[in-house]
Amino acid sequence: MNYNLTNTQSWKALEKHFEDIKNVHLKTLFNDDKERGSNLSINKLGIYFDYSKHRINNKTLELLFNLAEELQIDSRKQDMFSGEKINKTEGRAVLHTALRAPKSASILVEGHDIVPDIHEVLNKMAIFSHKIRNKEWKGHTGKNIKNIINIGIGGSDLGPVMAYEALKHFSDRSLNFKFVSNVDGSDFAEAVEGLDAGESLFIISSKTFTTLETMTNAKTARNWFLSQIKDEKAIAKHFVAVSTNEKAVEEFGIDTQNMFGFWDWVGGRYSMTAAIGLSTMIAIGENNYRKMLGGFHLMDEHFKTAPLQQNIPVVMALLGIWYNNFFEAETQAVFPYENYLKRFPAYLQQMTMESNGKQVNMNGDRIDFQSGAIYWGEPGTNGQHSFYQLIHQGTKLIPVDFIGFKKSLNPIGSHQDYLIANMIAQGEALAFGKTKEEVKAEGIADDLVMHKVFEGNKPSSTFFLDELGPENLGKLVAMYEHCVYVQGLIWDINPFDQMGVELGKVLAMKIIPELENNEKVINHDSSTNALINFYKS
Ligand code: F6P
Repeated sequence: MNYNLTNTQSWKALEKHFEDIKNVHLKTLFNDDKERGSNLSINKLGIYFDYSKHRINNKTLELLFNLAEELQIDSRKQDMFSGEKINKTEGRAVLHTALRAPKSASILVEGHDIVPDIHEVLNKMAIFSHKIRNKEWKGHTGKNIKNIINIGIGGSDLGPVMAYEALKHFSDRSLNFKFVSNVDGSDFAEAVEGLDAGESLFIISSKTFTTLETMTNAKTARNWFLSQIKDEKAIAKHFVAVSTNEKAVEEFGIDTQNMFGFWDWVGGRYSMTAAIGLSTMIAIGENNYRKMLGGFHLMDEHFKTAPLQQNIPVVMALLGIWYNNFFEAETQAVFPYENYLKRFPAYLQQMTMESNGKQVNMNGDRIDFQSGAIYWGEPGTNGQHSFYQLIHQGTKLIPVDFIGFKKSLNPIGSHQDYLIANMIAQGEALAFGKTKEEVKAEGIADDLVMHKVFEGNKPSSTFFLDELGPENLGKLVAMYEHCVYVQGLIWDINPFDQMGVELGKVLAMKIIPELENNEKVINHDSSTNALINFYKS
């Protein structure tokens, strides 16, 4: 479908409507509709999604859904599920949703049913995980494996580390998990500090098996291992690989029997339910892992089938467009009120920003509107004592996603009530603020009144679930994945390539040999030359 977004009828109608509503306060919107809190909410799949604290009215919603209809989002979104090569710039299908499809499903890629392949790898992961967890898999010197070290970067790290932290409560505490991503030697050194190589298993996770950081860390791991266990044959018991590149795995010296494969139709940042999830499965066990896949699948089906107005990722995506393109908000904050989700914002950063940080449309034409927002966040309540000040009283508009759970996994005293009271209070304070009159009525000195005013009208969504567990984690991740996809469809950009990471990588490869010789460097611009020569001096 070819279109110029800003020339579509529905976009123009939204621009016009924006002028009418941009200064309307959430207080007014709530006064106009006494049931707004429940009217603007979706309660599905065990997720209570409250989007009433957004600067929208029924007209806004009508126009946003008109946009989705004019752009045929409902039918275009099905192209992903049917295996069309929607990642056009790389000529690939995009089928991370197939990774969580049940055995009974059938999904064809170039006439080949990929579901049996997916389940074969899952079963291989399950057998391996059982062996590690049951202490059947012994190291070269006969010791049990206690330390699992995942080496990977980007999607081959952020998913595993996020899921491990999120589901730590469900993990086998006799196992010690480490994640090495940075090419900074300190990352590796700290991860293996004090470890016995004979009790350690390295999972080298890399879709391509060519990534500089991962290959460097993998070689260092090999050397570290062999410095303790002085026998090349021992590698087979202590190194496994997760990759699409069998040849490179073999060349590295890992037995391909110990390789867990995946496919080019899984993007790195969408790969946590591919074999990249091996460390997660070892941590939480096969049953919990399959529950997590089940949660993903529930959200996939919801996204595929629910009408646009009741479709959680679609509504999220449209709200994101509203702020990004009309209010010109630059960022989107995500604040989980659940400490186990501490790496969730970092995980979302790659998913959202590597996907939708694009400047040209599918035809390669420069777009004339803003694409992906900057995602950021920290767990509540820590952020409240740090940067929330700016959201409440600064001059920037920052839409917020609050994520909370009714039950704590560690119910201690009143902690959970305090935590959730804070989450709810923040949404309320952001939306409704505190007027000059209210501040004055508290007897505040005149010269301080304006400092204590909260203008309010700051938008937020709240996602409220029962308890954090594998299934709910799966639902939450898939929810954001599909939100990103819908926004990409609306902007008509490709959310599934990442060409913007290439240039820096290529230049680094040129600079590496320049750092390693003794000659003065003069072939770059004057700033780059000076930095290189300073490093060498
Ligand atoms: O540099 C970006 C990137 O290609 C990400 O998209 C990917 O998740 C990461 O590098 C790691 O790639 P690989 O799994 O091939 O090592």
